[in-house]
Amino acid sequence: MAPKKYALAGTGSRAEMYVDALLGPHADLGSLVAFVDTNEHRMSYHDARIAARRPDAQPTRHYSPERLGEMFDVERPDALIVTTPDYTHAHYVTAALDRGVDVICEKPMTTSVQGIADIVRSARRVKEQSGANLVVTFNYRYSPRNSVLKDIIQSGKIGKVTSVHFEWCLDTVHGADYFRRWHRNKANSGGLLVHKSTHHFDLVNWWLGDVPETVYAQGGLRFYGAQNAAERGLGERPELSRDNPNRNDPFNLDLEADPKLRGLYLEAEADDGYLRDRDVFTEGIDIEDNLSLVVGYRGGASMAYTLVAHSPWEGYRVAFNGTEGRVEIEVVERGSVSPDKHTLDPSVAEDSERPDENVRPEGQRIILQRLWEPAHEVPIPEGTGGHGGGDAMLLSDVFRGPASDPLSRQAGYIDGIRSVLVGVGANESLRTGQAVRLADFGVPLDDA
Ligand SMILES: NC(=O)c1ccc[n+]([C@@H]2O[C@H](COP(=O)([O-])OP(=O)(O)OC[C@H]3O[C@@H](n4cnc5c(N)ncnc54)[C@H](O)[C@@H]3O)[C@@H](O)[C@H]2O)c1
Repeated sequence: MAPKKYALAGTGSRAEMYVDALLGPHADLGSLVAFVDTNEHRMSYHDARIAARRPDAQPTRHYSPERLGEMFDVERPDALIVTTPDYTHAHYVTAALDRGVDVICEKPMTTSVQGIADIVRSARRVKEQSGANLVVTFNYRYSPRNSVLKDIIQSGKIGKVTSVHFEWCLDTVHGADYFRRWHRNKANSGGLLVHKSTHHFDLVNWWLGDVPETVYAQGGLRFYGAQNAAERGLGERPELSRDNPNRNDPFNLDLEADPKLRGLYLEAEADDGYLRDRDVFTEGIDIEDNLSLVVGYRGGASMAYTLVAHSPWEGYRVAFNGTEGRVEIEVVERGSVSPDKHTLDPSVAEDSERPDENVRPEGQRIILQRLWEPAHEVPIPEGTGGHGGGDAMLLSDVFRGPASDPLSRQAGYIDGIRSVLVGVGANESLRTGQAVRLADFGVPLDDA
């Protein structure tokens, strides 16, 4: 097979996983020929990492977003990897599909009904013409524990699912980070209902093998933001962490201290003014930090869902009630956050040695209980690497094509629509105070 040429749009933090995959386990498939980004410095940051690992690698050429067409014409990539801010995804996805170029797009697939409609048009046209493919990288599906749960439900062990209870807790490290940069504005991210919950809504759609139909939401910005800080008497806040005279403020993000944050963002500021350490208690935030939803599914099940972004611990709990039993998952990704020592990476359990951590130890547990039987714990296979080995499996599917998978983990654009539309519908429900029928948006929830 001829080596493939990959282009990547959006050379921020997430890009690293794809760059590393093409330098390491998937290097035999081809190489990165081009970067597209608004920020020259960030593109060069990735070049330096590539050169350090592969001094013989051909230089990756740089393009500004305005030169996207030229990039396609000159580089003729086989696939475009999209790791730009969410609101730009539809633009890159359609530009690539319209030229018959495969797309690997980060979640969320898009943030708006217009974005969905544009992608559907391109995806349907390309299917008839060139057969180019759009994959949405829902890495959570590949986490071994989430796959075990899919297998339990799919195999009918709890019968027909009647209802779901889903609670996701983002802590004051991971959760706070959405209030520092572009995510803090709905126009960029769709709010946490789209940016973050798209993972969760996709998991439920996939676990149930069902299609969401209705959504009702309540929520608000109740912890972060200037008004909440004033009401809680937090005093004068700086615009940026770096200007905070209290160096021990647990909501500070020290860009200088972390080589990746320094290289990718602090040293790149002069190019585009992207500020990565904005204070989480300042004006200008228009997304929610507490959300409660009721979602109805075509097959008859309903879900109660909550998301909080300022929890003292990070993890999730989901329970499925079925006609023949119940299955529950509880995951603690970080038991607590100490005010003086924390990292942005939620997979780093830096607090695990705290003496009081035995009350909420990090870990994961699936409990299955069929009617009339005692509960038992279902073993979860151990994986290595990001998301319990899930990231490696996802990358293999994405770059090498899906292996025959009884759990159907690879997600296409219809899956992307089904999860984004729950978030878009919930945003509409927050705005109007009414329940929303997803079909009323006029975009397809099923393959043509
Ligand atoms: N699946 C996951 O677990 C996961 C985790 C993190 C991020 N993500 C997704 O990855 C994407 C990127 O997130 P990130 O944290 O790397 O953000 P980031 O801000 O670190 O990087 C975004 C990059 O895009 C560039 N950019 C901005 N506007 C652009 C435009 N119009 N055209 C081209 N480039 C542009 C920025 O300069 C920056 O280099 C998001 O869609 C996010 O949802 C997914």
